[in-house]
Amino acid sequence: MAPTQSFSELFSLDARLRDTGLFFREAFRTFRATGAVLPSSPVLANHLTRFITEREDPHAPLRIMEAGSGTGPVSRAIAAAMRPGDTLDLVETNPEFTSYLDTLLETDPALSQVADRTTIHQAPVTELGVEREYDVIISGLPFANFTADEVRTIFDYYFTVLRPGGHLSFFGYLYTKEVKAIIAPREDYLRQARSRWVVEEWVNRYGVESERVLPNIPPAWVHHLRKPAEE
Ligand SMILES: C[S@@+](CC[C@H](N)C(=O)[O-])C[C@H]1O[C@@H](n2cnc3c(N)ncnc32)[C@H](O)[C@@H]1O
Repeated sequence: MAPTQSFSELFSLDARLRDTGLFFREAFRTFRATGAVLPSSPVLANHLTRFITEREDPHAPLRIMEAGSGTGPVSRAIAAAMRPGDTLDLVETNPEFTSYLDTLLETDPALSQVADRTTIHQAPVTELGVEREYDVIISGLPFANFTADEVRTIFDYYFTVLRPGGHLSFFGYLYTKEVKAIIAPREDYLRQARSRWVVEEWVNRYGVESERVLPNIPPAWVHHLRKPAEE
């Protein structure tokens, strides 16, 4: 796939409607794990693929992992930005989503181009094992729905399998703290505050850039972290 091809050209309205229907159903059924009611927008997906598009060494192939692929809006953007030799692992716990992703590897214009270099894993990301290494990890996991211990375990895992100098990009939603303060039970508000502190700890230590992405429902922030080269 030529990297110059516009991602939005490939992401038809029809495909988005199909994704949205499945995502919405699964969000209703398993909200804690899904953590959103709509798939990410193409604009958010493009922000998340920043370190696949902008490469330190344009000739070195990238080993890429996406954790929490859902119905694949970010996977499509990753596929559209991949170059010859790049490989992709998609990791997702929900079997409805993994079988949908399987279909996309055959039918989607961007993903079908990289199907022979893409592996779908149906598992919690931390169970993939440490005998692997990635240059770029993109995480769609809903940290705001997890406990602080779960968030710490996931970040530890990402930084174990990320190569020194590699990048982790992930997103969350703006204003969740304010909304939870009004509508959530006190225990849930405190749990989310503790999870957020863990995320902030990692961003403060390793963050290289943070961006707000307003064209998404709900609006989101994206953080990019870099594992120090000497670690
Ligand atoms: C907020 S959705 C993001 C989906 C998609 N990446 C997007 O941006 O629209 C989070 C996804 O993470 C998956 N998930 C939750 N916990 C997971 C885990 N421990 N390992 C892998 N996937 C997980 C959920 O099933 C869900 O599809």
